[in-house]
Amino acid sequence: IPPMEELNTPEKQKNAFEVFRKLRETTPIRYCEKRQMWEFFLYEDCVRILKDPKTFSSQLNRAGSTVASIITTDPPRHKDVRSLVEKAFTAKRVANLEPAIRSIANELLDDVIENGRMDTFFDFAGPLPVIVIADLLGVPNEDRRLFKKLSMQIASGVQDDSEESYEIVRQNNAEARRQLTVYLQGILDQRKVEPKDDLITAVWQSNLEENILSEPELVNFYITLLVAGNETTSNLITSGVRALTEHPELQEQLTNRPELIPNFVEEVLRFYPPSTQIPRIATQDVEIRGHLIQAGDMVNCWTVSANRDAAKFANAEDFDADRKPNLHIAFGFGTHFCLGAPLARLEGQVVFETLLQRLCDIRLTDPERAVLQPFPRFTSMHEYPVAFTGKS
Ligand code: HEM
Repeated sequence: IPPMEELNTPEKQKNAFEVFRKLRETTPIRYCEKRQMWEFFLYEDCVRILKDPKTFSSQLNRAGSTVASIITTDPPRHKDVRSLVEKAFTAKRVANLEPAIRSIANELLDDVIENGRMDTFFDFAGPLPVIVIADLLGVPNEDRRLFKKLSMQIASGVQDDSEESYEIVRQNNAEARRQLTVYLQGILDQRKVEPKDDLITAVWQSNLEENILSEPELVNFYITLLVAGNETTSNLITSGVRALTEHPELQEQLTNRPELIPNFVEEVLRFYPPSTQIPRIATQDVEIRGHLIQAGDMVNCWTVSANRDAAKFANAEDFDADRKPNLHIAFGFGTHFCLGAPLARLEGQVVFETLLQRLCDIRLTDPERAVLQPFPRFTSMHEYPVAFTGKS
């Protein structure tokens, strides 16, 4: 789906939050011919759509996969798939990852601390989540590099708004998906013979009892976890560092009172949401604020705009690390609410605890090289060079 007119160049994307503020005030709902979809910019409307899967279906073939995924499955089947996965992807399994997350964060900081500088995304936030997901799934350490390469390739975005760029991305993504499918099927085959305490084994075992997913769907689920949880979490971490440099006073506050870090992470999610929009398709005619949405129409919930809707959040355009309550919809809302949210939150918490234990005086060194990611991830930085002082 191409970017909307107001955001179709990197220059325009720098002013995205201003664009959305104007749209909320002038055209909170509109049909976009170029994107062939309805656009929703208000919090209330986005929530209304996301909590009504009967009228607004998730059955879009978004990821270029031919196999059904949990994300594109509607109730009632969605509930069966989700509960199957929840049995394996338990709170305990997430909590058990804490020491691994801490040591991965420490290892990555060991590599940069003496230099006193790093690129936040390239050196730190980029590598971390994919190692965590590899650990969670049970990918052997020696395959991490391959796994990371393919997961980056599967999530890569377009360079510009040309048909050629879209075609390159489609081909790259499809090839990475094909190779990951072969790779993960191989691991699954090994686990069937020799089960291990990992998520690949656990989801396979819970499926054995209920037989809800076909084998290709099972392998596709592993890929979904990777795609859904990799770049989004990298973006959360980079944006968190960005917020710490934009509000340097927070560095000392959070160091002295680490119990405030979870709130800080929530505000980063609201302010710079890693995923900016959630699409759905109407299953029946429905009227919203006088607009007739017809069965078959695509609708798009701009969560990035909803998260700064002044009707929902006081001083919505201000970063307030102590905001309470903070009912942002960066993880979606309702039926498909992010399955990995507890893991993403834990990663955020542990990463910022570790970072602030080891570094202080973190500052952006070169604003010219603070580069936004291309659409649709324009709330996040692709490059963010910082300098810091390492604590002894
Ligand atoms: C769903 C955002 C991290 C796995 C979603 C949705 C959003 C989202 C907006 C809803 C999609 C929809 O309604 O169509 C994020 C953000 C993350 C993050 C912002 C990080 C900051 C993760 C992680 C994992 C994960 C770490 C797994 C390891 C999933 C899955 C779904 C999902 C499986 C589909 C749930 C369903 O359809 O029932 N995520 N996510 N996510 N996320 Fe995340």
